[in-house]
Amino acid sequence: MSNPQILYMKGIHKSFPGVKALTNIDLELERGDVLALLGENGAGKSTLMKVLSGAYQAEEGEIFFEGKPVKIAGPKAAIDMGINVIYQELNNSDVLSIAENIYMGNLKTKTGGIIDYRAIEEDTKALLERVGLGHYEPFTPVENLSIAEKQMVEIAKALAKNTKVLVLDEPTAALNDEEISILFGLIRQLSSEGTAIIYISHRLDEVFEISNKVMIMRDGCLVKTLLTRDTNKNELITLMVGREIKNVYPLRKGDHIGEVVLEVDGLSSTYVKDISFCVRKGEILGLFGLMGAGRTETVETIVGDRKMTDGEVRIEGKPVRIMSPKQAKELGIGYIPSDRKAEGLFLHHSVARNISINVLPQILGPGGLVNFGKEGRLTNKWIQKLKIKTPTSQTPAESLSGGNQQKIVVAKWLAAQPKVLILNEPTRGIDVGAKLEIYNLMNELSEQGISFIMVSSELPEVMAMSDRIVVLHEGRQKGELMREEFSQEKLLSTAIGGN
Ligand SMILES: Nc1ncnc2c1ncn2[C@@H]1O[C@H](COP(=O)(O)OP(=O)(O)OP(=O)(O)O)[C@@H](O)[C@H]1O
Ligand SMILES: [Mg+2]
Repeated sequence: MSNPQILYMKGIHKSFPGVKALTNIDLELERGDVLALLGENGAGKSTLMKVLSGAYQAEEGEIFFEGKPVKIAGPKAAIDMGINVIYQELNNSDVLSIAENIYMGNLKTKTGGIIDYRAIEEDTKALLERVGLGHYEPFTPVENLSIAEKQMVEIAKALAKNTKVLVLDEPTAALNDEEISILFGLIRQLSSEGTAIIYISHRLDEVFEISNKVMIMRDGCLVKTLLTRDTNKNELITLMVGREIKNVYPLRKGDHIGEVVLEVDGLSSTYVKDISFCVRKGEILGLFGLMGAGRTETVETIVGDRKMTDGEVRIEGKPVRIMSPKQAKELGIGYIPSDRKAEGLFLHHSVARNISINVLPQILGPGGLVNFGKEGRLTNKWIQKLKIKTPTSQTPAESLSGGNQQKIVVAKWLAAQPKVLILNEPTRGIDVGAKLEIYNLMNELSEQGISFIMVSSELPEVMAMSDRIVVLHEGRQKGELMREEFSQEKLLSTAIGGN
């Protein structure tokens, strides 16, 4: 019997200027393992995976692959060994087709070196079938795909190679339920064939569904590795944050709600039809529905990111025609999309500039130049409030961990103090401790009179945080529930189109 151990990373250390990202980390994997790698935002998970993929070199430590010591000099070396890392930040090339993306650098040729497009097409078709994208032609440009679909193409790419270790860095942050179940099916199949998988996620339910081992990191150190069946959610949370979190959701009082701020009356767009609701001052309105219910389309139409074909939006009683998110912003309506990467952080700019970008006029000094003192005070406040992990406020946004970049986007909108803030899946990719900070802030700001519309697919989250919930189903409004009426059964039965 061959050695079951496939990978052993031993005593790994890695630093960045001002940050010790990894301290003496050990990671051991056997064939067929599905290891869940957990930790707060900035704990070092992605960095460790980048050491494994050859993207970073560790300052200290050893790596053993299939029992032998190896040096992973760069990404190509890792791939040749059978180590495939699908990064949190996607990196497929948009201008190429699906097939070209999958076989890039690995194009099949016929005798004489001619690219064998026929073989590539056939193989791509089969792979697309496996990842649930069978309805796409192999030569479809990748730019036509949604984020989730691009993610599945990355996975198809890993399947096309002889993958012995597959790393998925927060793969489900952009996926819907159906895509998640396809992904889990693939993981189970690969693991039964002996591929070892490292799975990074902030969704603890998934850990119990898919993994057999769990490894927890905190502040660049290894906290513990244990068998999934020997642990539970509460223990994992405590190990991750280093303290016990009793309530994942704060108490929502909702006794300060005022008059109507925003009204949506008969709103229709491509898919959603005849949506009507209002939001009151200081209220948190939940927008709930299952996949394809039209929640994102509804909010994108409100902020002018999609064309409104019928209906009216009123702010404080006055009809407004909002043609773009920029205009929405000027009218006091902020929107934080669920896809926070595309939404555009200025990655090369500092954390401070990214947070202050919506309120530049407030931080300008004489002569129209940025007053760095003012900018610093404003940003430091938000860095503290949201516990954004960064060496300084002047650090470029790109060197923060994925979850901390998300917090910047949230901070930038909170700093702008809009009348109404629309949040689409606000806590996706954000660790448990930071989630609670965001909920507390929503409560605090709503008491100060800011209104929220929160789109969320997490039922416990919408129920805990909303004062009222509007439920959509297949582009139509199916119901509106007051807080007293909330129940999991009622919300779900409404969301699937019943009553
Ligand atoms: N390229 C870089 N330059 C400087 N610092 C970096 C760089 N990459 C990561 N860091 C720092 O290293 C630490 C670990 O970051 P890492 O991205 O590994 O966290 P993570 O556990 O993946 O978090 P998340 O859950 O938010 O994705 C953080 O403090 C981060 O700011
Ligand atoms: Mg990460």
